[in-house]
Amino acid sequence: MVDSQIGAAMSPKPLLNVLQGQRETRPPFWFMRQAGRYLAEYRAVREKAGSFLDLVYAPDLATEVTLQPVERLNTDAAILFSDILIVPHALGQDLDFRQGEGPVLDPIRSVKDLHRLSHQRLDDRAAPVYQTVRQVAGALPDHVALIGFCGGLWTVASYMVAGRGGDDQAAAKAWAFSDPEGFDALLRILEDASFTYLMGQIKAGAEVIQIFESWASNLPEPAFERFVIEPTRRLVARLKDAAGDVPIIGFPRGAGPLLGRFAERSGVDAVSLDSGMVLSFADETLPKGLAVQGNLDPQYVVAGGALMEKEATRILNALSNHPHIFNLGHGFVPYTPVDHVERLAAFLHGWPDQAA
Ligand code: CP3
Repeated sequence: MVDSQIGAAMSPKPLLNVLQGQRETRPPFWFMRQAGRYLAEYRAVREKAGSFLDLVYAPDLATEVTLQPVERLNTDAAILFSDILIVPHALGQDLDFRQGEGPVLDPIRSVKDLHRLSHQRLDDRAAPVYQTVRQVAGALPDHVALIGFCGGLWTVASYMVAGRGGDDQAAAKAWAFSDPEGFDALLRILEDASFTYLMGQIKAGAEVIQIFESWASNLPEPAFERFVIEPTRRLVARLKDAAGDVPIIGFPRGAGPLLGRFAERSGVDAVSLDSGMVLSFADETLPKGLAVQGNLDPQYVVAGGALMEKEATRILNALSNHPHIFNLGHGFVPYTPVDHVERLAAFLHGWPDQAA
């Protein structure tokens, strides 16, 4: 199946081979938010657990929902069931997921609020998450890779500062632009916490790490360098020092023309492309041989049918010069019909023989 880099160490896990720079004839795939509300079996477990956070911190149930999409879709990877906001929660920031409202946090607005965060109990609080990783690692078939993750430091900071989601990052920008040194102090706290949290996952059996920088868009160039690339570079360097063989996927959603600079300077092994990325641009701008992931618009899966397959075909062909992991450009929406997802998975398993 492997058609390049003959001689490189081969894993029974196609996803790990791609992250080592090999192309697989049938690109391995998984989906962002593959464990979630579009699955009836997820909704059933979620109801049993109580709140979303109760589910994240219950290792048996979190293991079950992590494995659900792997079993139903035969994906090439499992992604730990957790959330990017577990890091601020484990640092002591109040967090609540409200129905229809998304996450709500007690905002950290300036340097004088930083004393509310403490690294001290982080590993204890995250222990159930590490336990989930351990259990999933023990349960996965040989060919399926286990992905651990954290949020990008800028993205997590933007939730911590605003106290909620939102698409303009106004609160984080207000602090970062008016007091960059103070804001750097928050990013340093998050760097240490994310490093600890990811090492906990790696020691428990995570084989790949993805960094979800979901709000990397709309930053002026120097701010993107300082608040996205530079903190990511520091975190990646520490992980490489401590766990060099664990590949890291960066997902700088909305990076646009700054994608190439992110890929080169951050030190990641692969980049995940959002749905708006122009694939010919990505091909030209990214280092040759860099693994890429992506980038089907999740709304194509809502639409389903032959159009979805045609779009998947376009992506598979456009990225055929790169080691490629097929994925979405952002997570599934909760109302995605599950039979459309099954059709997509079957299509990807049949590639390239059944190109649309
Ligand atoms: O299947 C997977 O991808 C693994 C688990 C995972 C979740 N969140 C579960 C989740 C992962 C990798 C995340 C990452 C995450 N969380 C991101 C980065 C990726 C992205 O989507 O941009 C962000 C920004 C968050 C923060 C977050 N978590 C928000 C804004 C929300 C509310 C929106 C929503 O969909 O309800 C969550 C909740 C959340 N995280 C759910 C899931 C399955 C829904 C919770 C529920 O069951 O009610």
